[in-house]
Amino acid sequence: MSLVEEIGEQRGLLLARVAEAADSAALEQVRVGALGKKGSLTALLRGMGQLPPEERGAVGRAANLLRDEVEAALAARRDELQAAELDARISAEAIDVTLPGRVRPIGTQHLISRLTDEIVEVFRGIGYQVVDGTEVETAYYNFDALNAPPDHPSRSLQDTFYVVDRSGDAAAMAGESDVLLRPQTSAAQVHAMEERELPLYILAPGRVYRRDVADPTHLPQFTQIEGLVVDEGITFGDLKGTLEYFCRQVFGPERRTRFRPHFFPFTEPSAEVDVSCGICDGAGCRSCGGTGWLEILGCGMVDPNVFGHVGIDPETYSGFAFGLGIERIACLKYNVPDLRMLLEGDMRFLRQF
Ligand code: DAH
Repeated sequence: MSLVEEIGEQRGLLLARVAEAADSAALEQVRVGALGKKGSLTALLRGMGQLPPEERGAVGRAANLLRDEVEAALAARRDELQAAELDARISAEAIDVTLPGRVRPIGTQHLISRLTDEIVEVFRGIGYQVVDGTEVETAYYNFDALNAPPDHPSRSLQDTFYVVDRSGDAAAMAGESDVLLRPQTSAAQVHAMEERELPLYILAPGRVYRRDVADPTHLPQFTQIEGLVVDEGITFGDLKGTLEYFCRQVFGPERRTRFRPHFFPFTEPSAEVDVSCGICDGAGCRSCGGTGWLEILGCGMVDPNVFGHVGIDPETYSGFAFGLGIERIACLKYNVPDLRMLLEGDMRFLRQF
């Protein structure tokens, strides 16, 4: 076969291979096979030197033309393949913006937080303001200033978590700490009376702690809302009217309330408030222990001794206070049989509210 024939044959072969290359990698192999160091076309061009001078001109031109042609075909095919590969990548990576998003399950407000907000709203509607309390308190604010003397049983180690100083201070380590996790929100009353201008219409919601073992009716940690009113001419009638209004707002208009005399160190007189049982409507059933009533809060008129600790003149001012446990109210309102269910975080339970 003459060289010119061989050039013609290579031309057909190479152009076909270029056209057949299915992707950039295959095309690169074709290029190396033709124009690489050991490529067929490279060998052909190298062989030019051995030709007799009279043939070199024509054959050389044909060979150079073929090289240009193959290079152009390679470039054209490269562009074509790259465009196709880009198209394929774009459609593979396409984001369908019309697909619905993946919904992350978000939690719901816990029943206790929701009920706290609901109760706070009831009182805000009649002019009360919310104040913050501290969960770690001193015995002075928890007990002394609330008229509970040092021998009062609520101060005992059995009832209260004291914060014990481990620094090596002998007195503190002997358990004589006067810093504690508050067992009631009532300390907020004292802070409010010390820090705020009169008259006072305040609510102090927050966590409290007791040395109790969790059972269906006790928790070592729960939530209270403390209320305090101090103004001129406040009477027990104001206390009763306010708390009856609150009960009707929270439990519904058909529920009745009753006030039973009780004792709290910081109020005089004191009472506990019961609401009629929502299950038997006062007839008496297992839920209410057969009495027809459920206890929901403690209250009373602020004891003048408490005013004495904060320098409020009991001849000019009077007031009332109340404290309620949210977990109990939640159980009564929604017929939850066991307080511990409120702490377990079981979504099947919590989602119901
Ligand atoms: N602090 C009381 C308790 O934890 C509840 C209470 C009773 C609060 C009467 C009051 C009140 O403000 O007047 O058992």
